[in-house]
Amino acid sequence: MITYLENSKQFQLDTDNSSYVMQVRDGFLLHIYYGERLNVTDHSYMRWEQGRAAFSCCLEGCQGFILDDTPLEYPCFGRGDLRSPALEIINPDGTNICDLRYVSHKIIGGKPGLPGLPAFYAEEGDRASTLVITLRDNISLVECDLYYTVFEDYNIISRHTVIRNCGEKPCHIKAAASACVDFDHMDFEVISNYGTHCRERMIERFRLNHGKFELASRRGSSGHVHNPFLILASPTADEDHGEFYGVLLVYSGSHAITAEGTQYNACRLLAGLNPDGFSWKLEQNGEFTTPEAVLCYTDKGLTSLSHIYNKAINDRLIRGKYKNARRPVLLNSWEACYFSFDEARLLKIGKCAADLGIELLVIDDGWFGKRNTDNCSLGDWVIDRKKLPNGLDNIYKMLKENNCGLGIWFEPEMVSPDSDLYRAHPDWCLHIENRPRSEGRHQLMLNLSRPEVCDYLYDSIAKILDSGMISYVKWDFNRNMAEVGSEVLPPDRQGEVSHRYYLGLYSLLERLTQSFPEVLFESCSGGGGRFDAGMLYYMPQTWTSDNSDAIERLKIQYGTSLVYPMSAISAHVSASPNHQTAHVTDFATRFTVAFTGSFGYELDPTSLSEEEKLLVAKSAELYKKYGYVLVTGDYYRLKTNYEEDCAAWCAVSQDRAVCVAGYVNTHVRLYDKNQHIRLKGLDKDTAYKDIFTGQTYSGAQLMGFGLPVKITLEYRSQMWILEKA
Ligand code: DGJ
Repeated sequence: MITYLENSKQFQLDTDNSSYVMQVRDGFLLHIYYGERLNVTDHSYMRWEQGRAAFSCCLEGCQGFILDDTPLEYPCFGRGDLRSPALEIINPDGTNICDLRYVSHKIIGGKPGLPGLPAFYAEEGDRASTLVITLRDNISLVECDLYYTVFEDYNIISRHTVIRNCGEKPCHIKAAASACVDFDHMDFEVISNYGTHCRERMIERFRLNHGKFELASRRGSSGHVHNPFLILASPTADEDHGEFYGVLLVYSGSHAITAEGTQYNACRLLAGLNPDGFSWKLEQNGEFTTPEAVLCYTDKGLTSLSHIYNKAINDRLIRGKYKNARRPVLLNSWEACYFSFDEARLLKIGKCAADLGIELLVIDDGWFGKRNTDNCSLGDWVIDRKKLPNGLDNIYKMLKENNCGLGIWFEPEMVSPDSDLYRAHPDWCLHIENRPRSEGRHQLMLNLSRPEVCDYLYDSIAKILDSGMISYVKWDFNRNMAEVGSEVLPPDRQGEVSHRYYLGLYSLLERLTQSFPEVLFESCSGGGGRFDAGMLYYMPQTWTSDNSDAIERLKIQYGTSLVYPMSAISAHVSASPNHQTAHVTDFATRFTVAFTGSFGYELDPTSLSEEEKLLVAKSAELYKKYGYVLVTGDYYRLKTNYEEDCAAWCAVSQDRAVCVAGYVNTHVRLYDKNQHIRLKGLDKDTAYKDIFTGQTYSGAQLMGFGLPVKITLEYRSQMWILEKA
């Protein structure tokens, strides 16, 4: 609910569990409060001026009012707020001052979309409404519309800003955050994800200090290194108790999220496009829309914050046929055969997979151009007739006869210098004239800010999908941006290329996903290098990591679950010894770990023993029956090998009738006490039956004492499926 109190010029935004309050004072839009839900009343007393003027600039006519000590909703550079700004404008006269004052506001039902950008959406019947507050610099005539959508049932508030040049001459945006929250204390710990290729989304938690902590990407992708979300925790808060604030960006390009501890022991949280390398020219009446940031508050612990984001992403970000639906059990050819396959081998693998109950065969990299290694052919999306003389026809036919679908890999945003596409259009890649073009994995990036490049990609991909044979696309992206230039833009617009690239990509994805609504799209970037809410708007799942080792995946999947739902986390059983780490793990452990996400295989099934084949068949059957619990249920982190010698988790269906739980021992402790895993989220009066052993427990027993762990060996696991008896 959004309430405006005219007398105190106060805005109050309420979700079911939180309130967010702002007020107009002396024309400035102040932040008053964000936290536990309040009653609707005048909250002006919560902000008072201390007049701490140490080396600060006082505003004209209001001596006690020091901007540097004032919590602001959309702070600008240049008028005495010396913290990091949300907005920095280069005016036509070259100065970079901006002074935004309140002009007007409106409250509208539902939520408008963001032009060309991914965003959370409201559905008919949702308790969702939007406040738009317009601020203006009365000298430069730059205007900002601050958008706040309150999703009452989902306990999130989404924000973005539209910046408009109402002056006569062009100006440039140097920095434009999606959201700013000025807290009046800095008694926080920061929780973030950091990582790299094959080690994505590790969790870090540390005290917020004075100065600025920045989670950022300058790589033209959300990247493996810092996922675009940040959590502020009260220092004593844990999984089940205490206050947490989250900010999540719905964007896949370069971002910056900062938490700044100030001289007055306050904290400014900023999230948005990374200002490094960015600028945007606004002509007269030109508008720029920032990506969306989604805020969340809870006083019920980290699990509660995760559940809020997980559910909102499942219900109000992911779209299409696979929204809240179990995904097909698939087998991907990459770790099964890499580039070495032909029709005969794929027919053999596909038939074997289908016989074991697998529902989809994915032909990964290597089916197009003359791609036998990774140094050529990206851009030439034409079937390699040497490997597949009959195209996909025979494979598709065999799979169809065996009730199995066909999926295919693309890496559309790239071009190999050794490709027909590059020979025909050497100017279509990101590059800067007269400078060398740096290659990553022997490839260059296409310039998706050019519409003709996006059209080419749409046509090439549509040609393959038009055959009607493909029901799944894995969309890969295996390098980051360098030499970010476009020869079709003038010099004063070169700072726009990286963001324009994403506008191009998003419009391409929108066209493709609308044209092929039956196709399940999976995002990938050298594993989980672009695991973000922006991509999830178009593609409901992401290949989580190129590290498919079950033990390594424990931490990766655990870290990913902080914000992202298990439905989005693709997890496959791969071969043992593992190809990345050489760890040896038994089949049951690999299965237990992969069974927490969108499930599949990444191995050659024809090389399995008869006993293993039976396990594959059994696992496919189990996923078909219980996979929905992972897609739509509540996920609980129970134990983590970040802190202990084991990991454990459970997912509970929305009706609390089914629970899937897993445990992996990651370090053997001889003669240790008996372990028991206390579950969460069950109904304490319900009797639950373990489908494997027939043992019955009450919910109270399972949550009070827990499940007995009977394995003691390292890298071994135990899995339970408990059903209402
Ligand atoms: C990187 C992906 O993460 C892998 O799964 C695989 O698709 C390769 N690219 C193929 O080149």
